[in-house]
Amino acid sequence: MQTVARLIFLTALTQCCSLDTTVAQSYNENALGVIAEILRRGQQQMDLEGLDERDQLLAEYDFIVVGAGTAGCALAARLSENPKWKVLLVEAGAGESYVMDMPIAVHYLQLGEMNWKYRTQPSTSYCLAMNDNRCNWPRGKVMGGSSVLNYMMYTRGNRRDYDRWAELGNPGWSYDQLLPYFRKYEGSRIQDADTGPTHPGVRGPVEIKYVRDVSRVADAFVAASQQAGLPRGDYNGESQLSVSYLQANLGNGTRWSSNRAYLYPIKGKRRNLHIKKKALVTRILIDPQTKSAYGIKLLSNGRMQKVLARKEVIVSAGAINTPQLLMLSGVGPAKHLRELGIKPLADLAVGYNLQDHIAPLLTFTTNTTTLRLNEMLNVNAVGDFFRGRGPLMLPGGSEAISFYALDADERAKGWPDVEIFAVGTGLHFNPALRLAFGLKPAIYQAMFGELQRDEVNAFTLFPMILRARSRGRIKLQSRNPQQHPLIYPNYFHDPYDLNITVRGLEQCMRLMEMPAFRAINARILEKQPPACRRYKWLSSEYFACYARHFTVTIYHYSGTAKMGPRSDPSAVVDARLRVHGIDRLRVADASIMPYLIAGHPNGPVYLIAEKAADMIKQDHNYIA
Ligand SMILES: Cc1cc2nc3c(=O)[nH]c(=O)nc-3n(C[C@H](O)[C@H](O)[C@H](O)COP(=O)(O)OP(=O)(O)OC[C@H]3O[C@@H](n4cnc5c(N)ncnc54)[C@H](O)[C@@H]3O)c2cc1C
Ligand SMILES: *[C@@H]1O[C@H](CO)[C@@H](O)[C@H](O)[C@H]1NC(C)=O
Ligand SMILES: *[C@@H]1O[C@H](CO)[C@@H](O)[C@H](O)[C@H]1NC(C)=O
Ligand SMILES: *[C@@H]1O[C@H](CO)[C@@H](O)[C@H](O)[C@H]1NC(C)=O
Repeated sequence: MQTVARLIFLTALTQCCSLDTTVAQSYNENALGVIAEILRRGQQQMDLEGLDERDQLLAEYDFIVVGAGTAGCALAARLSENPKWKVLLVEAGAGESYVMDMPIAVHYLQLGEMNWKYRTQPSTSYCLAMNDNRCNWPRGKVMGGSSVLNYMMYTRGNRRDYDRWAELGNPGWSYDQLLPYFRKYEGSRIQDADTGPTHPGVRGPVEIKYVRDVSRVADAFVAASQQAGLPRGDYNGESQLSVSYLQANLGNGTRWSSNRAYLYPIKGKRRNLHIKKKALVTRILIDPQTKSAYGIKLLSNGRMQKVLARKEVIVSAGAINTPQLLMLSGVGPAKHLRELGIKPLADLAVGYNLQDHIAPLLTFTTNTTTLRLNEMLNVNAVGDFFRGRGPLMLPGGSEAISFYALDADERAKGWPDVEIFAVGTGLHFNPALRLAFGLKPAIYQAMFGELQRDEVNAFTLFPMILRARSRGRIKLQSRNPQQHPLIYPNYFHDPYDLNITVRGLEQCMRLMEMPAFRAINARILEKQPPACRRYKWLSSEYFACYARHFTVTIYHYSGTAKMGPRSDPSAVVDARLRVHGIDRLRVADASIMPYLIAGHPNGPVYLIAEKAADMIKQDHNYIA
């Protein structure tokens, strides 16, 4: 039995997640049997969202939505509410599988075909702990997009983030005006949510609930943060400056992806919605005379095909692929496009304004038991998982979250500049993690080798800087749509970013002084990246060096098709998300954010999609 289970497991894991067998073999026998059972059940559910997949596409649709990610699934579901509109949703990836539903397995998904596997361009000042000084930038390539690869952490961001969008000349985007859209998608099960004017929605399709059955580390983190002066509270309510157990996109015992939220419920019920999987959109067709979008070209099964759009094309391909596709279609910086032999149709700052959140993780040892993947995967844990509880429901081990305004004037505004979140496990308990981050083997050994050998209990804090000032850029590498674009994040280009990062790291250290962390004997792991050994241990110079090494992305790429008025030369779309200078073409995804919000963007991307769907319905005179 064990041998069979082992075989199934190894095959499944290597196939699913391109793990090499030696890594897979490092799990104990018990774990293998357990995962095999999960996968067996998974097989039965594999085609859950096999929704009206048409091999025969129509020649023409009313709307074509490019990309079935967080935004795309929501848009397709909302637009097809009008039975008179024919809607096509095109996705480069394949369907979701049951393994992807399992929150603890999140790291593995970065190793498989469901990830685009982008990497940043090499740098001499960041990502220094990563192979070739390049950070991995995972991105979902699957029905549900990055909402299938993500850590399910649910945040709205701050009121000021949206008010600033509105102040930049984007009518309709202030926080108060957006509240109905937050509530439209939110299906909140947060029992002690803030019930004031900003209260969450409870009837929307996107499930939100607290993680449960957390580790002792999470309890210590919440208590220590309070001891350090933060109130406990609903960080999605009126006051974001608080600490809490994580609110996550979990529902019915699984990950709650956009696919599951918006498309499963209409499976087989919307004959006017067609979904085309495993099809890469290679170009948006734009008439060079009228400057009007009229369709797309897609590559599927080695075949190129044209599909026309009667009303609009909506690009929801995410903050890396959206600028790539726009540029391939002649929408972008004219000079850059000409260099590649692409005729510019609209000279716009596509690919600029790239923003992200980084968090140089810190590892702490403790005398309490932390989450250990190999020991967690036992029969009881899996039994619990099938009942929707237990540690396998923790998204990659993320358990609790807190928001600080380290700058006093930001504190006065209630606008956080640093978030710290707690993950109840160490890098050394999960072989997928160092692969997902792409850590240099020598640095991994220097930092985590001993922990791994001695199986030391450890946990991780991530101080994430919320409002970085550096801006990066996405550029085309070539005219080939199958070639990855070039990614220049420019982390730390603005000195503020390194400064606030170091202060975030120092705030983590302060938490260790609090009674709750002392009670579990929490101590920073006394290991350095070799190149940082010349700095005084724990000095700000040391932390700066450390941050330049562990420049860990939290995957919040955004801003590359910025929303703003025509008068703003850096704007790509207007406040109704229409591309400036091109008719019948919109962008609706994380690319449109003028400034990245102070939190995790998956929820805000639902917000963008819901508002976009409403604006499109208004513009085409459809009243539900
Ligand atoms: C590993 C990871 C962890 C994260 N953790 C969190 C978290 O805990 N909380 C949070 O709030 N946010 C998190 N995020 C970020 C969040 O998931 C994203 O911001 C959000 O999903 C972006 O939505 P989107 O619609 O803009 O793009 P995506 O969801 O990435 O969707 C784009 C879709 O378009 C498809 N596509 C792209 N190009 C083409 C093409 N040419 N033809 C056809 N299809 C195409 C892609 O395959 C993809 O399915 C995380 C992201 C990642 C990758
Ligand atoms: C929850 O899961 C059960 C069993 O798998 C299923 O029957 C039910 O429809 C699901 N509910 C939702 C809201 O998806
Ligand atoms: C950050 O900048 C402030 C203001 O210039 C300075 O006082 C502080 O020492 C800096 N902190 C770090 C960690 O660099
Ligand atoms: C952990 O360490 C703390 C502080 O030294 C101590 O008070 C506590 O008893 C220890 N707990 C265990 C389980 O060893």
